[in-house]
Amino acid sequence: MDDLRDKYIERIAAAGDEAELEDLRVQAVGKKGEISLKMRELGKMTPEERQVAGPALNALKDEINSALSAKKAALADAALDARLRAEWLDVTLPGRTRAAGSIHPVSQVTEEVTAIFADMGFSVAEGPRIDTDWYNFDALNIPSHHPARAEMDTFYMLRAEGDDRPPHVLRTHTSPVQIRHMEAHGAPCRIICPGGVYRADYDQTHTPMFHQVEGLALDRDISMANLKWVLEEFFAAFFEVDGIKTRFRASHFPFTEPSAEVDIQCSWVDGQLKLGEGDDWLEVLGSGMVHPKVLQAGGVDPEQWQGFAFGMGIDRIAMLKYGIPDLRAFFDSDLRWLRHYGFAALDVPTLRGGLSR
Ligand code: DAH
Repeated sequence: MDDLRDKYIERIAAAGDEAELEDLRVQAVGKKGEISLKMRELGKMTPEERQVAGPALNALKDEINSALSAKKAALADAALDARLRAEWLDVTLPGRTRAAGSIHPVSQVTEEVTAIFADMGFSVAEGPRIDTDWYNFDALNIPSHHPARAEMDTFYMLRAEGDDRPPHVLRTHTSPVQIRHMEAHGAPCRIICPGGVYRADYDQTHTPMFHQVEGLALDRDISMANLKWVLEEFFAAFFEVDGIKTRFRASHFPFTEPSAEVDIQCSWVDGQLKLGEGDDWLEVLGSGMVHPKVLQAGGVDPEQWQGFAFGMGIDRIAMLKYGIPDLRAFFDSDLRWLRHYGFAALDVPTLRGGLSR
């Protein structure tokens, strides 16, 4: 019986998998297993022999059974361990590849502006960058003799001689989108129109292509007070300072009456610009109540509707917010500059998630 015991305990310990273990179980304690056969022999024994061999066989059977189930559990543990080791995943590892590109500050700021105005019920409208001089000028109450046309340093598209289609220009501002939107959708409306604009000008604060965002809100009773509130909400959200003060200076634009240039409160300390404090002012946009002639040009009845409009430089507010000193660098495609001032591709600005971070 000792031989039997040693043989099975040894084999069970050496078993490599569950199938092998099952074979051993059948051989030892299965119906026709060695130990079962021995138990059948008990009947042929004398009562004295049986009294010794019976309990011993039962004890052996129990020992083998518990060795079998202990080994079975050990094999299952080992299998789980192996699986855990093989399928191990470190969720704290950073991604292996770093996205090579980054989001340009102009794109980032456009997204920020869009998120803020969307929260106030403004949707985004777009128009063509090459437009007729009617949309760019005449419809905005800038007739051909008007000095504003000369001031804008307009790029005109070349026309072949004898080509009598209306002249096309690279739009000098986003204001023509006001007209196109009114024509297509009428009043009431609340839109912003971000996009590229063009003027023949080049120095530290001017590039031949830059970006503006236009705003237009029309309804029956919209006033300058609504304009002031909307802009102050915008500046507070955009520059992330509470209660930023604005100053409305009387101005003149052909497409608004009255017109105002808007400044925001700032301070200069040791050449460092701080927004929302101090007693200096920084001009950030032009605005006013939409001129009746402009409403008319867009097919909107000025007897029924009125509203405000504004135009703001996107590159300029990007420079202010992110401390970028030279506008020209925006368009140099210098990788070192882009890496320094760019934004992570998945850092999409939202009002809740934080605009800049
Ligand atoms: N279009 C003007 C420019 O480019 C900016 C502007 C001023 C737009 C006043 C407006 C406005 O809508 O009301 O200089």
